[in-house]
Amino acid sequence: MKDVIVIIGANGGIGRAITAQAAQRFEQTPVYALSRHPVTDQGADNVTFKTLQTDNEADIAEFCQTIKHANERVVTAICTIGTLHGAVDELSLSPEKKLEDLNESQLLAYFKINSVIPALWLKHLVGVMSSNPSQIACLSARVGSISDNRLGGWYGYRASKAALNMLVKTAAVEYGRRAKSTSLVCYHPGTVDTALSEPFQHNVKPEKLFTAQFTANQLLTALETVESQHSPYFLDWDHKVVSW
Ligand SMILES: NC(=O)c1ccc[n+]([C@@H]2O[C@H](COP(=O)([O-])OP(=O)(O)OC[C@H]3O[C@@H](n4cnc5c(N)ncnc54)[C@H](OP(=O)(O)O)[C@@H]3O)[C@@H](O)[C@H]2O)c1
Repeated sequence: MKDVIVIIGANGGIGRAITAQAAQRFEQTPVYALSRHPVTDQGADNVTFKTLQTDNEADIAEFCQTIKHANERVVTAICTIGTLHGAVDELSLSPEKKLEDLNESQLLAYFKINSVIPALWLKHLVGVMSSNPSQIACLSARVGSISDNRLGGWYGYRASKAALNMLVKTAAVEYGRRAKSTSLVCYHPGTVDTALSEPFQHNVKPEKLFTAQFTANQLLTALETVESQHSPYFLDWDHKVVSW
């Protein structure tokens, strides 16, 4: 069996940086960098960019089966998939400020992208995780913490990240039986300078607006510290525990 790393959503701001740094840190380990769109970056020798409909369950299942049949096992999977604003199909998502802004199609889109798709990856990865200490990290957000919600607003994004956290927490119980060496991690990266945060950066102090490179380094370092017997984790960029 050969251990491999899988980056799901490798063409986003954070996904690109994680792909580059994972390839550099673990230069002996193959890295599959998956995106819905062709990636034009010239990756390191151990990176294979794959264009895959990462939001389609049949494609997710097929990718995991291909890994299995190649006698590969996943030692680290990082799912960066998420959305906050912008075009999704015929919708233009915009985080809600008040109850009157709630809209059925928008709420469903948030839940589909931020909660359902990562859950489908958890479903199919369970059969292909390494028996070595391994991790699956899902990019979550502190606003998905139910106990930390004092500001309100952003109903769909908050609720879909809270649902993601619950799906991860529930899956961790089953992973504890079926993939005992795997730690599940919900990760809050802080505010990172990417397209996702761009419209909201004006409220952020310059020293609290992180580069994607810093984020990738913090996340990969955090994953070196987790242990499956303490899984699941909800950690922030500073490796501090976030309350669920
Ligand atoms: N930036 C921040 O300040 C911040 C803060 C807290 C949490 N986060 C979380 O961090 C993650 C990465 O965000 P980012 O800042 O790197 O944003 P980004 O540049 O907009 O990247 C978003 C990622 O999500 C994927 N994605 C979006 N819609 C999708 C869909 N319908 N189906 C499948 N994949 C889809 C994209 O995958 P492709 O590669 O296929 O395009 C891309 O990799 C998100 O989950 C976000 O919620 C970010």
